[in-house]
Amino acid sequence: MKNDLAKTLAKKYGTPLYVYDAERIRENYRRLHKAFSTRWPDFQIFYAVKSNSNPAVVQILLQEGAGCDCASENELKLAMRLRVPAEKILFSGNMLADADLKAGLESKALFNLDDTSLLPRLLKFGRPEVLSFRINPAIGKSNVHESDELAGAKAKFGIPWEKAEAAYALAKEKGLKRFGVHMMTGSCVTDPAYFAKISEKLLNCVGPIGKKLKIDFEFINIGGGFGIPYQPNEKPLDIEKTASLVVEIFKKKTKEFGLSEVKLFVEPGRYLVGDAGCLVGRVHAIKESYKKFVGTDVGMNILARPVLYGAYHGIRVVKCSNGTTDHGPRTTDLVETVTVTGQACENADAWAKDRKLPKLEVGDLIVVENAGAYGYVMSYPYNGRLRAAEVLLEKNQPKLIRKREAFEDWMSGTTLFQKG
Ligand SMILES: Cc1ncc(COP(=O)(O)O)c(C=O)c1O
Repeated sequence: MKNDLAKTLAKKYGTPLYVYDAERIRENYRRLHKAFSTRWPDFQIFYAVKSNSNPAVVQILLQEGAGCDCASENELKLAMRLRVPAEKILFSGNMLADADLKAGLESKALFNLDDTSLLPRLLKFGRPEVLSFRINPAIGKSNVHESDELAGAKAKFGIPWEKAEAAYALAKEKGLKRFGVHMMTGSCVTDPAYFAKISEKLLNCVGPIGKKLKIDFEFINIGGGFGIPYQPNEKPLDIEKTASLVVEIFKKKTKEFGLSEVKLFVEPGRYLVGDAGCLVGRVHAIKESYKKFVGTDVGMNILARPVLYGAYHGIRVVKCSNGTTDHGPRTTDLVETVTVTGQACENADAWAKDRKLPKLEVGDLIVVENAGAYGYVMSYPYNGRLRAAEVLLEKNQPKLIRKREAFEDWMSGTTLFQKG
């Protein structure tokens, strides 16, 4: 985003402000879709709604042809409100409550169970048309943090691959007839070979199960996890190479196990929206303590990733102040090492530590890069610092797609101020 646009948007909508670029979301979708669909025609992208659930963002991806990967009853409601057909909704939650199971059945979405123990509970309420199990292939990876490794011995997700056969056997015994298979092993991975490796492991696991139990798997969902570069020297994921390696394995293994009609599904979030969003914040205070702190309205409550995972986000400085200040003459060439903080009463809120940045002054803007995924959705109103507004740019034309949270929104649902 150009500096002038950041200034205009900050003036019009205030800060902190999430800004998404519709064109970039479309480009990301098309690149991913082309890479796989030209190699494996029966291919479908299910957008992981959890990464950015603003309806205007989800709608862009639906227009492109995506389905929705939903993790909860409310995400299902969102997909249904956006009129996504049931066969294009995947319901794939974790530690589901009975209410989730019922909601999943009512939605008629493709049901993906994270554990065998959920099956008898689900069948008390009804029978899904198509069922998949989330398999933990005992390999996980993330470029960001070990808690983003979603498979392997430490992960709470999925059924250990050694127990997958028993899960499908039970489902068959209970009369279910149509099956798929799913895994989601890690988030933000930029190594193409990794996706081929996990696909091979999954296919080697379910191929023999299909043969033994006479199950014709209708789809194989290799999950999301396609990474984007956050650090300055990180390389983007080569999606053409990724698709080529994955499909090579698919061709070989589906032939070996007689699974040739199988659909290939993916459920990315970050890859589609991560670099299509940024977060505009304002500098409100500069403090010379044992080190220099730049206090902004972007804190852990507005963007949780740095504090949650030690995640790195690039910061661009947009100078707004002019003339001299208490800190000496302003020059855009001056670079300082500072720690950028938010306004929360937590020391952890010093979220960009010892960064070399152009000299910042009160009133300047910062643009936090790659904030389109796991940004707004993870924000919370700690210290009464309420959630940011969200704006969508369509060909550089801004549209407010969520207003800034106000005091009345914050209090809604509490009882003391209720009228009548
Ligand atoms: C089940 C599931 N699917 C898909 C995703 C999307 O992951 P990513 O944004 O890394 O593509 C996640 C993220 O945690 C997930 O848990």
